Amino acid sequence: MRYLSLPSELFLKNRKRLLDKLPSNSLIILHSNDRYPRNGDQFFPFRQQSDLFYLTGIDQEKSILMMAPDCKNEKRKEVLFLIETSEQIAIWEGHKYTKKEAQEISGIENVYWLDEFEAAMKEVLADADVVFLNSNEYIKFFSEVPDKNLRFARQFKEDYPLYKTERAAPLLAELRMIKSDEEIELLKIASEITRKGFERVLKFVEPGKYEFEVEAGIGHEFTVNRATGHGYAPIIASGGSACVLHYIENDKPCNDGDLLLMDFGAEYANYTADMSRTIPVNGKFTERQKACYNAVLCVFKDAKKLYYPGNTINKLNEQVNKMMEKELIGLGLFTEDEVKNQDAEKPLFKKYFMHGTAHFLGLDVHDVGSKDEPFKPGMVLTCEPGLYIREENIGIRIENDILITKNGPVDLMENIAVEADEIEKIMNQSF
Ligand code: GLY
Ligand code: MN
Ligand code: MN
Repeated sequence: MRYLSLPSELFLKNRKRLLDKLPSNSLIILHSNDRYPRNGDQFFPFRQQSDLFYLTGIDQEKSILMMAPDCKNEKRKEVLFLIETSEQIAIWEGHKYTKKEAQEISGIENVYWLDEFEAAMKEVLADADVVFLNSNEYIKFFSEVPDKNLRFARQFKEDYPLYKTERAAPLLAELRMIKSDEEIELLKIASEITRKGFERVLKFVEPGKYEFEVEAGIGHEFTVNRATGHGYAPIIASGGSACVLHYIENDKPCNDGDLLLMDFGAEYANYTADMSRTIPVNGKFTERQKACYNAVLCVFKDAKKLYYPGNTINKLNEQVNKMMEKELIGLGLFTEDEVKNQDAEKPLFKKYFMHGTAHFLGLDVHDVGSKDEPFKPGMVLTCEPGLYIREENIGIRIENDILITKNGPVDLMENIAVEADEIEKIMNQSF
């Protein structure tokens, strides 16, 4: 792997926390992601299923974790099943984990090849009262492609209709929402690599550069710093493209006088950063751009104070919307009177700020956790107010990653340039 090896204690601890939540005589079966087909004989680059990684550190397709803490057979209490390599696989694909390597990474002693899974599962099923199966329960996620966990759950219910099954996802979400110190360190590394990407960009953006050249500069910095890549498709959006919230074409030239909105985050050891910065292509904000930028920056700074235990994403969104409404009046986009008379179902600010301010972050960029979940120490969320004025070709977003602690919010990206003057200064240095 490109990332430095992680201590197996992290995964041991994560499994222990999950086991503490399981009722007696439970069996839990979790699958890794597939290698998703691309075309011809190609697959997309593999990315491990986040829950399986969280519990094992195993970064290989077709892996299965089976845990049955009350099983009488010690060897079946915690088992990992892996692909058995062959000369053919070794020649064409390269290395697959040996049992010893998998033991060292995961801290799981009982590692078997996949062909032993079915029989081992049957043995454990004999004494299981309930079987926990996994699925992707992210509320905004819809996919026509069933993943391995879903295919397995369907098959399991057909083959073993008399067993009681339960959802593993809510238990895993509860655990993954609270980051351990080790996980926070990984998020800090991802954030630091992201900072390097941004600083590289600040030094070479100028009129005429293409958005994909900016993307390439960021990618270079990510790769040489051991990131696996981007945690999500990077948004490199100049001029009016910045008003398209999920713009990922990144194929236009950056024009003199335009702003450039960049939303990107390095993925390190499967943990991702999520950052947005907006800069003037020619190194100097116009007066209007600066007024708009500072309005967002002001909301960003005040919003960061709202990341305290007990608050929720839904409440925070409402609080930030109020702040943004005030700034938008200040920018002359609408008046106080117009706000007083607005349709409550269609508030005026929504025309210019149409997304939420926060989401959970971790192994996934939109990590597990609900919008009504009270913030607790150890949670990490983004803070990302934005302003999009299509008629003026202005799109601005500022986004940092914030750790909740009992002593107040900790900005994991505090050291990444964000003040307008600071950005202009770096852009205008000669290198
Ligand atoms: N990068 C995706 C987001 O900010 O939510
Ligand atoms: Mn975000
Ligand atoms: Mn983002």
